[in-house]
Amino acid sequence: MKQLIPSLCLILVLMSFQTQPKKQVLIKPKTAVVTAAPAAGMKAVLLRGKAVYLQQCLACHQADGGGVAHLNAPLNGAAAVVGKDKEKLIRIVLKGMKGVDIDDESYNNTMAPHPELTDQQIADVLTYARNSWTNKASAVSAAEVKAVRAKIK
Ligand code: HEC
Repeated sequence: MKQLIPSLCLILVLMSFQTQPKKQVLIKPKTAVVTAAPAAGMKAVLLRGKAVYLQQCLACHQADGGGVAHLNAPLNGAAAVVGKDKEKLIRIVLKGMKGVDIDDESYNNTMAPHPELTDQQIADVLTYARNSWTNKASAVSAAEVKAVRAKIK
């Protein structure tokens, strides 16, 4: 047993030497594609945002962002979603909303507050909602969410 431990250590050290060059080879091509970086970054944000959406928003707002008539407001094509007032939008996710008529339609379900989501998760899911279906609007950053959260507290 006493002999086994040093030899195990040696194997581990040897293994770490073996895996290191492999990692470097993987990283190199990524850093080389500098021009694709912003688009790739946005793609990653949208993927993360979609994951949050599927878990937190899908049940009410549906996969196509169309909502449910008379119950849950649509997010696709909604002025509040693509509008310039990001603070209001962030507030809706943090605080929820209830009993507000949207475009002369009343939705009887309650929009649940989601304060448990991180700033990054809220930024990602809102960026996703602002850039999915027919929506096209600027991204929401974690810093913007943080600022609104600080005002609410
Ligand atoms: C329990 C169901 C439910 C869940 C879950 C839910 N919402 Fe809502 N949402 C609603 C309802 C209902 C309304 C409309 C509230 C009203 O009529 O006052 C609404 C309204 C909204 C609005 C305002 C739409 C407008 O046109 O003013 C936004 C934005 C929104 N939700 C985003 C989200 C996001 C993002 C998530 C996931 C993090 C989410 N909602 C999760 C039910 C839900």
